[in-house]
Amino acid sequence: MNGPAASAAPPAAASGDVADRAAAGFHAAYGEEPAGRWAAPGRANLIGEHTDYNDGFVLPFALTLRTVVAAAPQPGERWTVRSELSDPPVEFDGGQLDTPGRVTGWAAYVAGVVWALREAGYDVPGARLAIASDVPVGSGLSSSAAIEAAVLAALVDLGGLDLPAERQPRLAQRAENAYVGAPTGIMDQSAVIRCRAGHALFLDCRSESVEHVPFDLDAAGLAVLVVDSRAPHRHADGEYAARRAACERAAALLGVPALRDVGVADLDGALARLDDDEIRRRVRHVVTEDQRVLDTVDLLRAGRVREIGPLLTASHASMRDDFEITVPEIDTAVEAALAAGALGARMTGGGFGGCVLALIEADQADAVAHAVADAYADRGFPTPTHVMVLPAPGATRLS
Ligand code: GLA
Repeated sequence: MNGPAASAAPPAAASGDVADRAAAGFHAAYGEEPAGRWAAPGRANLIGEHTDYNDGFVLPFALTLRTVVAAAPQPGERWTVRSELSDPPVEFDGGQLDTPGRVTGWAAYVAGVVWALREAGYDVPGARLAIASDVPVGSGLSSSAAIEAAVLAALVDLGGLDLPAERQPRLAQRAENAYVGAPTGIMDQSAVIRCRAGHALFLDCRSESVEHVPFDLDAAGLAVLVVDSRAPHRHADGEYAARRAACERAAALLGVPALRDVGVADLDGALARLDDDEIRRRVRHVVTEDQRVLDTVDLLRAGRVREIGPLLTASHASMRDDFEITVPEIDTAVEAALAAGALGARMTGGGFGGCVLALIEADQADAVAHAVADAYADRGFPTPTHVMVLPAPGATRLS
């Protein structure tokens, strides 16, 4: 799907099959064959943004873009990790895991998983690991959760640890929150671990109960185009934390455990009790977004995929106007996709950059991608990249 002004996929780290690259990387670094390979996907969120840490609802799906970890045990409390993006391997031992934050950079996601497992009382096997990934870094497609989930799957298998898949997202989230230091919710780790092919994952972030909702694009003659806005992440970490803090403050002011406990029927009353306009808008986003997730799930359950478009677009407007987490590149991509005939379009992920997803007729991909690229050129933005996606399975052992 190459177009003159838009390249076909987000920049992959390297060419060739990602599982082969992980095995080759393992061999190059350690001079032996791995004991196995474990894969975890990136994710896109169909709808439900910044609702997870409000105990609300989300509806992500896993991507075919994957991170693969090739691994083998090694004696002692030692972990050696090679990434195809950085040489030489990073090594850490049990002593360096006493305090979160001692291992930094990309390897912190690996150290965080080992740390969180040990904190939870698991006897984690020492290991050598080699990581390869097709999930673009910094595009809001959860490359970090993909590393966490693939490493976790590898260590659980190598050590024969008793940690079923439904309990793995919390542990991976703890790695990210308490070791890496990013105050994220449970969505990304749940998506990359628990998603199923052909389905979106309807997750209640309070109970962690899930429903695999059919998301059959082919049957509906539809496709999802993901556009990487290539917008630099502007203050993403600080702004994310600020949004989360605002939501927690609002819940406290309203006397509820979390904003999930304010339903759309209660929204006007709740807004009337808040005197800060910014807080009111944050609350309105979260409450209406939860409802949009529920409405989207209802439509998908009924096989009415085509009809979810307006909900996606309404979600975008809410993120832009009420939650204020979009940037000009993202808004431009959404507007251009809609003007070119997309049924719905929205930013996906935490915001301040990242990706847009557009629900389109299957034969519209080139037209929509070109329209976005043209709009970018008009605004002087860097050329966006795009990829067609299908709902893929979550983390799994490959060999
Ligand atoms: C990031 C976080 C998630 C979630 C989204 C916004 O992806 O990691 O926990 O909060 O932003 O929906």
